[in-house]
Amino acid sequence: MARHAVLAGVGGYLPKLIVTNDDLARSLDTSDEWIRERTGIRQRHVASAEETAAMMGAAAARAALRQAGAGPDEVDAIILATSTPDQAFPATAVRVQAALGVTNGFAFDIAAACSGFIYALSVADGMIRAGQASGVLVIGAEVYSRILDWQDRTTCVLFGDGAGAVFLHAAEGAPTAATACVLSTHLHADGRHGDILYVDGAVGLRERPGTLVMNGSAVFRHAVVNLAGAVEEALAANHLERTAIDWLVPHQANRRIIDAMGKKLGLAPERVVVTIDRHANTSAASIPLALAEAVGDGRIRPGHLVLMEALGGGLTWGSALVRM
Ligand code: COA
Repeated sequence: MARHAVLAGVGGYLPKLIVTNDDLARSLDTSDEWIRERTGIRQRHVASAEETAAMMGAAAARAALRQAGAGPDEVDAIILATSTPDQAFPATAVRVQAALGVTNGFAFDIAAACSGFIYALSVADGMIRAGQASGVLVIGAEVYSRILDWQDRTTCVLFGDGAGAVFLHAAEGAPTAATACVLSTHLHADGRHGDILYVDGAVGLRERPGTLVMNGSAVFRHAVVNLAGAVEEALAANHLERTAIDWLVPHQANRRIIDAMGKKLGLAPERVVVTIDRHANTSAASIPLALAEAVGDGRIRPGHLVLMEALGGGLTWGSALVRM
């Protein structure tokens, strides 16, 4: 019997501390005007010592389960995307599993930088379709504040911390484009561009935990071209026209990239979910955080067709089409 993955709940968590552009400009040669004009960012949330990827991921997961009306006993897999895990091992997903009181199934992390949520969603969808799991928490949780060089104005103003999660459960039957489920996911990577966005160290290097290094304009160019390809791919795979899309929930890296994608798809600006002004770029957490906001305030409703896309270090990129 064919199976598909229903998105039953979504939740998010943001650190309590908010840092505005003006706050950064007090100790950095930058300005609120420059950051807003070039990126659309007004503020970001920054984690305290207690707000780790596991702690925030568990909070987001609890909110997703609550919305789905599901308990920990209905979870049999946790797939967590992060580039800022609490520890080299165990996986942050396993820490979340323990925090939630889940004892079934398995849990593991995925590292695909800002594309991490799309990658994790794709793996979860595949495992549900294959019958390997029936209730999957897909989480993006990041504390980029810990890997930023706070003296580097070209990177530190761009990122924020947070976590988002969705709960997927299996349903039986072959889906059509009208079925409420993950319709398709599309993943890409091109390691030849690994050096335009990376962290120059690792948890395993005692002296160099590493900070984020980026060639912003090169990433920008790749984003516009690759994301356009990934969204066309998602529509073609489902024999859908652009007009079928109800919502674009993009990775939140730069307002100009988001606007370019919305325009390319012919979507009215109010059909594009934007959180970058308040969250900045929360990497793997940005899509589920944006989804949580738009479902929570009633914009995205059952039956709506949601297109998601992301690009990040690797380079990695991808898209997903989900019928809510
Ligand atoms: N405040 C003030 N000035 C800044 C600044 C800051 N925070 N950061 C950079 N500048 C300066 C630069 O030093 C440069 O000055 P110069 O002309 O004297 O050398 C000038 O602003 C323009 O810099 P540039 O890098 O050309 O700006 P940009 O328009 O390309 O915008 C980014 C920079 C990073 C905002 C943009 O390239 C971007 O968003 N790229 C994509 C990044 C991304 O998506 N990353 C995550 C992927 S997941």
